Amino acid sequence: MDKIIVTGGTPLHGTIPVSGSKNACLPLMTAALLTDQPLTLTNVPNLADMKTMAALLESLGAVVTREPEANRAVIRVERLRSPLAHYDIVRKMRASILVLGPMLARDGAGTVSLPGGCAIGARPVDLHLKGLEAMGAVLDLRDGYVHASVPRSLHGGRLRGVSFRFPVVSVGATENLMMAATLAKGTTRLVNAAREPEIVDLADCLTAMGAQIEGAGTSTIEIEGVDALSGTDHAVIADRIEMGSFMIAPAITGGDVTVTGGRLSLVDTLAEAMQAAGISVEETPDGVRVSRANGSIKPVSFTTEPFPGFATDLQAQMMALMTLADGVSVIDEKIFENRFMHAPELTRMGANIAVDGGRATVTGVSGLRGAPVMATDLRASISLLLAGLAAEGETSVSRVYHLDRGYERVEEKLRACGARIERVRDDE
Ligand code: EPZ
Repeated sequence: MDKIIVTGGTPLHGTIPVSGSKNACLPLMTAALLTDQPLTLTNVPNLADMKTMAALLESLGAVVTREPEANRAVIRVERLRSPLAHYDIVRKMRASILVLGPMLARDGAGTVSLPGGCAIGARPVDLHLKGLEAMGAVLDLRDGYVHASVPRSLHGGRLRGVSFRFPVVSVGATENLMMAATLAKGTTRLVNAAREPEIVDLADCLTAMGAQIEGAGTSTIEIEGVDALSGTDHAVIADRIEMGSFMIAPAITGGDVTVTGGRLSLVDTLAEAMQAAGISVEETPDGVRVSRANGSIKPVSFTTEPFPGFATDLQAQMMALMTLADGVSVIDEKIFENRFMHAPELTRMGANIAVDGGRATVTGVSGLRGAPVMATDLRASISLLLAGLAAEGETSVSRVYHLDRGYERVEEKLRACGARIERVRDDE
């Protein structure tokens, strides 16, 4: 297992390019299940999760031609050989559940292992299942698997369009049902749908494949089912979470970095919070420039919410910044019930954070000190790296396989801006 050693204290200066979005790419890859023609994706990030999703699709019968260095993947599913998403893959990556809607829509059958809980919370998939049931699927939960099928008596084994209201906003369930609805009989109306940019990207790709979708990016999405979809070429949108993570780097170190490849509108809410903290954030022709020259960091309280609110996936990074603020900030995590595992690790670096349920109270300190810390999930990992960049001395972050799920060439990108950072083998 690798670990990353950061020697902090150097303000970052330069340019960091943003890769394609992991969370957009995962559902886009599963959309290939909806057609027998090839789906070509470009701007595909070269990450562990893309490899896992490719392996899952291959186990279902897809031929996946990956060119990771060229950030390209071509996926073709001429026919679904085996409609079974095995536990061995699903337990590695919860987004595996996104194959269920497309498999049911394409062939009227699919079996997917139920994902277990994960480090950041219970993360049930009940809304995915309720939605598919409302569309006519018959579900049987046994042996840790959901066995789903569409009865032949229903439009010859085809899902039906329905009106479905999500009781809570779910990105994944919106994606799963939107994909299922593209080939259903009739019109599907998804109410209280997620509005994330990843949903819009998926809808754009599905539309290019021949789907009829209105309202993606709003809370009501209408999908008119069609008989068949075709392949297309689609470029994955920029990763707004990677972008936001790198925006924190100059802010926390007191530097000046332009993050290129993504638009400010993808990270509006973070930009506003950072500006309230006294950080300069401005849009440039090719991205966003962030700087803090000697000024202190003001405390900013915030609450995580579905898009366009403050992203839960940027909470840990913003908390790292707030550990050095000139006062007290209060952070309310409303999406996941256990997403403060970075707090005790940041505390080991000298931060003053009190966690009470879903609320963290961060009292800014004048400086952080390097320490050995352990990454517990993807966004926790990057927050520890960011804190390490600002800390005095050496921070070693272990279990960086979490980081490798969501950040492509992270050391290289940060090193290009002057960060002292290296990956070493950790044999413990
Ligand atoms: C997506 O997860 C992202 N993952 C997560 O990214 C992100 O944190 C999350 O959305 C919220 O923005 C991908 O896109 C692959 P949800 P998802 O369904 O779709 C509850 C990262 O670091 N819920 O929007 O799984 C759920 O427990 C990550 O990149 C149900 O109750 O999230 C949570 O409290 C981790 N029942 C809330 O809804 C369901 O059936 C939002 O979850 C589904 C969800």
